[in-house]
Amino acid sequence: MAVITILNEDKTLTGTEITSALAIHGIDYERWTPAHPIADNAPSEEILNAYSREIEDLKYRGGYVTADVIDVNPATPGLEEMLAKFNREHWHDEDEVRFIIAGHGLFHIHSANGAVLAIEVEAGDLIRVPRGTLHWFNLCSDRRIRAIRLFQDMAGWTPHYTESRVDENFMPVCFGAAHLSMTS
Ligand SMILES: [Fe+2]
Repeated sequence: MAVITILNEDKTLTGTEITSALAIHGIDYERWTPAHPIADNAPSEEILNAYSREIEDLKYRGGYVTADVIDVNPATPGLEEMLAKFNREHWHDEDEVRFIIAGHGLFHIHSANGAVLAIEVEAGDLIRVPRGTLHWFNLCSDRRIRAIRLFQDMAGWTPHYTESRVDENFMPVCFGAAHLSMTS
């Protein structure tokens, strides 16, 4: 389950309140469970098959045409260069849709109303950041994320940078399991 922090209000949300709280800012959030148990290191095709019902449903709703699986870990060549493309405030001409299979990630959303939200995602979390939404992304301390991505047109997923440097005001802090055990 994701952990949401509304940074301007110093407020943290978990559990059932997440979906409605994110919807206010235009962000879709769902929890998916696979059609059958599957290891998080299974081949990509098996991962896509296990979630084919949810993927097809999302394609229908959002006009996505392709889905793939991205796998990033500390041994990924060029990891820092890759991350440096996305840890500054930017937007895309396409939705950014991720379903997390393994690892962790931290999305910051700069909402149209000025609020900045930190969304820490983990396995089972589906997040959809609509096109044009200002955001940036960091990995957590495990430096690992495996995720299903959906695209309307992969060419549209190039980042456009705002160069606002607003991201520099927010430390990318992941809470992880320690924080969850404190709140549950
Ligand atoms: Fe992005």
